[in-house]
Amino acid sequence: MTVFADYAPWYDLLYQDKDYAAETSFVEARLRDHGVSSGKLLDLGCGTGLHALAFSRQGWNVAGIDLSHEMIASAKARAAQAGLSIPFRQGDVCATGPERDYDTVVSLFHVASYQTSLDALAAMFRTAHAALKPGGIFFFDYWYGGAVLAQGVETRVKVIEQKPLRLTRIAQSDHDEQAATVTVNYTLFCEDTDRATIHRVDEAHHMRYWFPFEVEAALRQCGFEPAGSHAWLSDAVPNTKNWAAYSIARKAAQS
Ligand SMILES: C[S@@+](CC[C@H](N)C(=O)[O-])C[C@H]1O[C@@H](n2cnc3c(N)ncnc32)[C@H](O)[C@@H]1O
Repeated sequence: MTVFADYAPWYDLLYQDKDYAAETSFVEARLRDHGVSSGKLLDLGCGTGLHALAFSRQGWNVAGIDLSHEMIASAKARAAQAGLSIPFRQGDVCATGPERDYDTVVSLFHVASYQTSLDALAAMFRTAHAALKPGGIFFFDYWYGGAVLAQGVETRVKVIEQKPLRLTRIAQSDHDEQAATVTVNYTLFCEDTDRATIHRVDEAHHMRYWFPFEVEAALRQCGFEPAGSHAWLSDAVPNTKNWAAYSIARKAAQS
């Protein structure tokens, strides 16, 4: 079963508290720090398109790719409803596509941690590399290993009420320290409180946590010059308090 197939219809509701506009501004500021402030932007693993639309509203010429048909369908519907022309396509970011001459490539909300081997991570980096102009900037985030190991995994429950819907998500995680992976077993109970119906969805998400040293080595192998790794939404070094880190890299001018 494709991951995010059954999960997709509930995705935006589950993350309604995530501030996509603020995250987009943060990423734009980091891109500006590295000399890129406008032009063509490719979103790898764009999901339902929330960052892509935010970038488009800021004037970027945006395209997006995602593995999940359901997430891409949602992104297309959202762009059409907003009157924005954003080419979204279903595809694997680990397979180099036709995209070329981008000023920047972004990959946000842990897409790099859905790549659970070094080969898959490098394949994703090669897709970004092929899409970028020489000198272009790649920005992406991932689960930071130091924080995952320090904090450990635990079962989490999230309840969201949006009448008449009540969504209860249980996330039970299995940690394999030798493989540096965490399998998050999601169970969603989707209730219609008016009709007294309940629908259950089960999906396992296999994730890999990374350390900046291994991410940066893979970037170099793929023709990038790493330009820093930090804790998410900050300029601090990755640290045990924050599961998310981001890295920035420049496509070497000669590669
Ligand atoms: C947590 S979601 C993030 C979606 C979006 N970037 C956001 O910020 O809301 C992770 C996304 O990565 C996509 N994904 C994971 N592996 C992928 C791959 N190999 N190729 C394309 N998309 C992938 C999933 O389908 C999913 O939409």
